[in-house]
Amino acid sequence: MKILHLISSPRGEASFSIKLGNAIVEKLQEANPGNTLTVHDLTNTPFPHLEEVHINSFFTPKENHTAELTAAIKHSDEAIAELEDSDVIVIGVPMYNFGIASTLKAWIDHIARAGKTFRYSENGPKGLVKNKKVYLAISSGGVYSEGPMKPYDFTESYLRAVLGFMGMTDVTVYRAEGVSVPGLKDLALDKAIESIAI
Ligand SMILES: Cc1cc2nc3c(=O)[nH]c(=O)nc-3n(C[C@H](O)[C@H](O)[C@H](O)COP(=O)(O)O)c2cc1C
Repeated sequence: MKILHLISSPRGEASFSIKLGNAIVEKLQEANPGNTLTVHDLTNTPFPHLEEVHINSFFTPKENHTAELTAAIKHSDEAIAELEDSDVIVIGVPMYNFGIASTLKAWIDHIARAGKTFRYSENGPKGLVKNKKVYLAISSGGVYSEGPMKPYDFTESYLRAVLGFMGMTDVTVYRAEGVSVPGLKDLALDKAIESIAI
């Protein structure tokens, strides 16, 4: 089994989403000895925002690619190959302004490609990335799994939608939440780690 751990917090050892992601990876490794792990820190070498050249490269058949278009699609091809090569994807998700970090969004913009990871058919869109298990390790200052702030969480709903669109429908969510809330913050990570069922 090949595990891919994507990191999108720039906070290194202080990051709750990284710690929670690491705990998920550890449990996966305990349950499945002999698996391989690739850690991809999206904050070290961020994917570029989509510019005209990237879009042109996505929609131009490969045989017609210029050197510029070939260079522009390299990130996307590599990210899709890495994704396809993995069985389990653990995604660390710090909540920023009710949504995901832009580094993670940029990764999604490079992997969501018509004809590669999804396609349109007469019966609507079809996801082409199959047989993946996805774990989301979400960390947030407030509480969003229940209570008045629940409708403000655009991390889980967005990721379920966009990953599902590409065929990744088996998604389990763990949350270290309330990390800024007095009375909750001290136990938020421990509670999240205890909730991991693998
Ligand atoms: C730029 C920024 C925006 C944030 N926006 C929110 C937010 O909208 N809601 C929230 O509950 N917490 C918010 N937080 C708090 C983070 O979600 C929280 O600190 C989380 O643990 C960050 O993930 P990390 O520990 O993996 O870096 C924000 C933090 C930063 C730095």
